[in-house]
Amino acid sequence: MSYTLITGASTGIGREFAREFARRKSDMVLVARSESRLRELAAEMNPSGIADIHICAEDLGDPDSPRRIYDYCRERELKIGLIINCAGFGFAGAYDSMPLEDLQEMIQVNTAAMAVLIRHFLPGMIAEKNGGIINISSVGGFQGVARLGLYAATKSFIITLSEALHEELKDKGIKVVVVCPGYIDTGFHTRARQYPEHSILPVSNPAVVVKAAIKGLLKNKLHVFPTFLDFTLVFLQRFVPRMSVLKTAAFLAPLKYKRGF
Ligand SMILES: NC(=O)c1ccc[n+]([C@@H]2O[C@H](COP(=O)([O-])OP(=O)(O)OC[C@H]3O[C@@H](n4cnc5c(N)ncnc54)[C@H](OP(=O)(O)O)[C@@H]3O)[C@@H](O)[C@H]2O)c1
Repeated sequence: MSYTLITGASTGIGREFAREFARRKSDMVLVARSESRLRELAAEMNPSGIADIHICAEDLGDPDSPRRIYDYCRERELKIGLIINCAGFGFAGAYDSMPLEDLQEMIQVNTAAMAVLIRHFLPGMIAEKNGGIINISSVGGFQGVARLGLYAATKSFIITLSEALHEELKDKGIKVVVVCPGYIDTGFHTRARQYPEHSILPVSNPAVVVKAAIKGLLKNKLHVFPTFLDFTLVFLQRFVPRMSVLKTAAFLAPLKYKRGF
């Protein structure tokens, strides 16, 4: 039996993935910094211990963490059949005042960690001629977003890497999907210091993302848009000038961010 590895499993969308896979009695490796939250979650969703759930507390901001996660699985002979790269965060605010350590951490967690993690586990999946990768991006990754510039750029990275891997791996039995949600009701916005209630766009719940992602994985659908609106916002970009796309993105983003940043 293979395991599902979920990063960012302690809260929000990743936690919802973990709950859904627990309902399906899947064996899992859960990754996030907060070990206590992961342990509470494992106990809550798997009270009878039917599934084999491992907690691998790691800070993906540390460049060595993907290797440690890989070693953790290898030493315990946990064969990873599905990776869900969900860990990520953003900061809203003027780029010139963004703390340099936050900038570097965001690049590391949102892009480098997932890219290296996939690289570690991919040979095992290819050897099995079976595997899946779900990468969580955002509608924000389809264009630059003023005052969310680095976050949007990291999400673009996830989209283009996923597109390349989808094409490269489709004949090797590996499914690769990239999920592109709009606003989802999680703790993300508090950490990002942004206010979705200041956007005219609706806010969905994490279950909508998880349902769409699993459906997309089964069909090996490259781009997964959890709602029709997410799809429409990206699809319409084909028919308008790029500058209009950028202006619209800046308008739709919750631009009122906390003062002092
Ligand atoms: N919410 C939205 O509106 C929205 C929209 C589009 C895309 N997304 C994407 O969805 C993904 C999940 O976000 P969410 O909305 O569920 O937010 P969330 O509730 O804040 O969850 C973020 C997860 O990432 C983990 N994480 C953050 N930094 C980490 C680090 N350095 N090392 C390890 N784990 C780390 C957190 O765990 P710990 O704090 O315990 O480490 C947490 O489990 C992100 O990639 C985000 O960009 C969110």
